[in-house]
Amino acid sequence: MNATHADIELRPVDRFNVDAILQLTVAPRQAQVVASAAVSLAQAHYEPGAWIRAVYQADRPVGLVVVFDPRDPDAEPDPIMHPGDILLWRLMIDRECQGRGYGQQAVQRVLERYRQEDGVERILATYAPGPQAPKSFFAGLGFKPEGQDDEGEIVVARPIRLRDGEPVPPASSGDSGGPGRT
Ligand SMILES: CC(C)(COP(=O)(O)OP(=O)(O)OC[C@H]1O[C@@H](n2cnc3c(N)ncnc32)[C@H](O)[C@@H]1OP(=O)(O)O)[C@@H](O)C(=O)NCCC(=O)NCCS
Repeated sequence: MNATHADIELRPVDRFNVDAILQLTVAPRQAQVVASAAVSLAQAHYEPGAWIRAVYQADRPVGLVVVFDPRDPDAEPDPIMHPGDILLWRLMIDRECQGRGYGQQAVQRVLERYRQEDGVERILATYAPGPQAPKSFFAGLGFKPEGQDDEGEIVVARPIRLRDGEPVPPASSGDSGGPGRT
């Protein structure tokens, strides 16, 4: 059964849940397309502008998302980014929990958070081309191809705010806290 809208929340990573987050893994064939939870946690900790959240289904951690927000004064935006862009830097859903709509709902939570903020107009994502590429995942969320970055990754983007004709998701009870790193 697919996740309903209210099922998925984004919660801070803290000392109580970090061990569970470190246990999250993708399928072996996907390991080449996304960094491990440990690497993402470590890199996000040292990257100004990184916003990291655990993806929860009810009280169960099922994934990890990291957004890069260049509005942080110390942030160094990637050259693919334009003013008003944020970057969905990392997204992983645990291998045991994929295919239930959780990834899609996690991105919706990110969109909800940033569409309330001034100065954010678009969200970008990148992924390596190939058989494991999450092309239809991002297409289903309204991301459109933008070309490639200097490492040959596919760049996709969509507006932060709802597009004409896009269904309005019901309000979320999830994390709506302000910017902050964990
Ligand atoms: C990509 C990922 C986050 C998707 O999470 P998920 O919870 O399994 O995805 P959902 O169940 O929300 O899928 C939503 C839709 O995307 C499609 N989809 C999901 N993963 C896909 C993939 N890897 N490739 C192509 N399509 C995919 C699903 O078939 C579904 O389509 P439908 O609505 O027509 O049925 C997950 O597979 C993952 O962690 N992959 C490894 C890391 C990765 O590629 N991250 C993204 C780039 S940083």
